[in-house]
Amino acid sequence: MKVLVIGNGGREHALCWKLAQSPELEALYCAPGNPGTARLARSVDIRPDEIQQLVEFAQEEAIDLTVVGPELPLVLGLVDEFREADLAVFGPTRRAAELEGSKVFAKELMQRHGIPTADFEIAHDERSVLRAAKRIGLPVVLKAEGLAAGKGVLIVHDRQELEDALGVFFGQRRFGQAGDRIVVEEFLEGEEVSFIALCDGARILPLASSKDYKRIGENDEGPNTGGMGAHSPAGVASFHGREEIVKTGAAVMERIMHPVAAAMADDNRPFKGFLYAGLVETADGMKVLEFNVRLGDPEAQPLLMRLEDDLVPLLAAGARGDFGVDRLHFRKEAAACIVLAAEGYPGKPVTGEPIEGLEAIDELEGVEAFHAGTAMEDGRVVTAGGRVLGIAATGVDLRAALQRAYDAAALVRWPHRYMRRDIGRRVLEALPGED
Ligand code: AMP
Ligand code: GLY
Repeated sequence: MKVLVIGNGGREHALCWKLAQSPELEALYCAPGNPGTARLARSVDIRPDEIQQLVEFAQEEAIDLTVVGPELPLVLGLVDEFREADLAVFGPTRRAAELEGSKVFAKELMQRHGIPTADFEIAHDERSVLRAAKRIGLPVVLKAEGLAAGKGVLIVHDRQELEDALGVFFGQRRFGQAGDRIVVEEFLEGEEVSFIALCDGARILPLASSKDYKRIGENDEGPNTGGMGAHSPAGVASFHGREEIVKTGAAVMERIMHPVAAAMADDNRPFKGFLYAGLVETADGMKVLEFNVRLGDPEAQPLLMRLEDDLVPLLAAGARGDFGVDRLHFRKEAAACIVLAAEGYPGKPVTGEPIEGLEAIDELEGVEAFHAGTAMEDGRVVTAGGRVLGIAATGVDLRAALQRAYDAAALVRWPHRYMRRDIGRRVLEALPGED
């Protein structure tokens, strides 16, 4: 089979890495790809939002299966265009991708179908925001309706921050049209967990649990990022121990994943693709923070390192509308990914610095350096973005996987490198049997 992966981040490198292991793979392409995917796949110089060019490329090369990494092409309707051209693609249609593309749509759908989520109101001007904040009570969370690359969310603790947030939304209009409607939402207290599943329109196959760390600073301080590290299993309390894992997984499937898939089908937008529920483990059970219509980045890196099943026939079958299997298989080992970022991220990162030590990673068993913001310059790999690399490793348990990922991360250097040193620390401290 000839497979095309769309995107150029760490998630797409991990997808290429996993797909490349399939005996069914004949040729692998990545559009546009990065220096890491280029070791596994032919890079195709087309951006993910250049949908017509992607369709033409897939037709010319007779691509058998396309797998989409990021949300933007999905929200723009890539899947609809590919289907129209009779090309097999694993991902949601434009209407189904609204689950991520419109936070208002997602919240209203959850409300209509009784899916547990934070209490909320939709606001469109200063007065309605203030009224909603008053009823819900501080702290509240204000979210731009549309896509804002994880940056359209403001957490407001006091009156002053509320005034400032109103300035950001209505004065500066920082999120443009994406901020015309705002979700004003109750702040949920608890550990965040990522619950990701593969959907074929009927069946839902859950991946193992995972957890990512979205804030730039240690102890979850500072602004949001795309994700500074991740591990699988999630290791949060309700996923402790074999029995709890099974029980919690079943509860999330029953209360969240099945109802949302059924609601989407009812609404004439059946969901195919990766369905990602960002959850908070509250005192009242798991509640949904958001849905994404794709794999998480960096959650994909540890998850795909643990996945045993061959992804090529699985996604090809899913694209046709029937996985033909009831469950996925994961290695017992844990996996972790530490993101190496460039200083300045999530603002303007320092770029163009040569990266040392990548060869050392190639020598290590069970360790991968997934590229994100890198580029080739005069035959050398240099930094070219905010999140530069994800150093991922497996290990007998979470502690071992994290330790190996951190040991490997220490080998990879450049002058303005930044990483969080506390990925996984809090969940390790809370594990049963720990001091
Ligand atoms: P979202 O784009 O909705 O996932 O929001 C980005 C991040 O903001 C989340 O991963 C959380 O860390 C935080 N966040 C969003 N909504 C809430 C909420 N209702 N309560 C607490 N934290 C939130
Ligand atoms: N790591 C969070 C996300 O991919 O949205």
